[in-house]
Amino acid sequence: LRVGTDHVGEISRLKEELNAAILAHYYQEPEIQDVADFIGDSLGLARQAQGTDADVIVFCGVHFMAETAKILNPSKTVVLPDLDAGCSLADSCPPEDFRRFVEERPGHAVVSYVNTSAEVKALSDVICTSSNAEKVIASIPEETPVIFGPDKHLGRYLVEKTGREMVLWPGTCMVHVMFSERKIRALKVRYPDAEVLAHPECEERVLRVADHVGSTTALLERAVASPAKRFIVATEPGIIHQMKKAAPTKEFMRAPGKGPEGACEACSECPHMRRNTLAKLHECMENLSPEITLDEGLRVRALLPIERMLELR
Ligand code: 13P
Ligand code: SF4
Repeated sequence: LRVGTDHVGEISRLKEELNAAILAHYYQEPEIQDVADFIGDSLGLARQAQGTDADVIVFCGVHFMAETAKILNPSKTVVLPDLDAGCSLADSCPPEDFRRFVEERPGHAVVSYVNTSAEVKALSDVICTSSNAEKVIASIPEETPVIFGPDKHLGRYLVEKTGREMVLWPGTCMVHVMFSERKIRALKVRYPDAEVLAHPECEERVLRVADHVGSTTALLERAVASPAKRFIVATEPGIIHQMKKAAPTKEFMRAPGKGPEGACEACSECPHMRRNTLAKLHECMENLSPEITLDEGLRVRALLPIERMLELR
């Protein structure tokens, strides 16, 4: 694409031409969020993908999200601006290792976070996201032992919230483990009125200093509903774009990371999510590529646990 191309105008033209829906996660750069038809958390995006009547789903997020949209919509074309937009959590759970982990624990129900490959989903009984995990776990009979993967911090948080013992897979998110509890506390001393909002993928010590823990949508809703005027946001800062739009008089600070004092602003940005750019979005709509494709047998096996999740309202 030539320099100076009107990406926004072209994207809007192609959207009409292709009967496409642009779905974007809150961690996308603001320019992408601004051209999206729907912006949401993982659960909201999966529901949106399930219900769309568009012919083409343009998924601005990471690979597992677009793959979930394809699993739900085998006859639609699903494109992702950058096929290399992965996820450290999904990568921390190789399917063959997870298969062994599950086989070594017969009789367990397998609850997998949506941040997993289709192969891992196919090995699971039910999928969850950070916004419905408690409900999903509660749907499993008390006497059935549970394996939860791949995020060990979310898993620990859920054990605490539900009182349910679970065997945890030891995965982590490279973005959320980088927030510094010590520096957040120091910021709280400087701004005692600030409310700390944190995603449950953060480490336990960060969640201990948080006033509110939840999925990206839950954190956005809290930012609007809270009487506080100032917030320290311990999740990927892309969400701050919507927080500012929804609550323009409030102030949002990025939670500081563990790096040296004055470390880069971009350090808490997810390098995978940020692989997508407005130019790549335009290009993928122009070429209908890169496209998500999936073996049909695998798709069907991965679909069942996703459907079980979506049936729980
Ligand atoms: P949400 O489902 O809360 O949007 O989280 C997705 C994610 O990738 C968190 O790192
Ligand atoms: Fe994966 Fe973490 Fe990026 Fe979310 S923020 S997509 S969990 S690496």
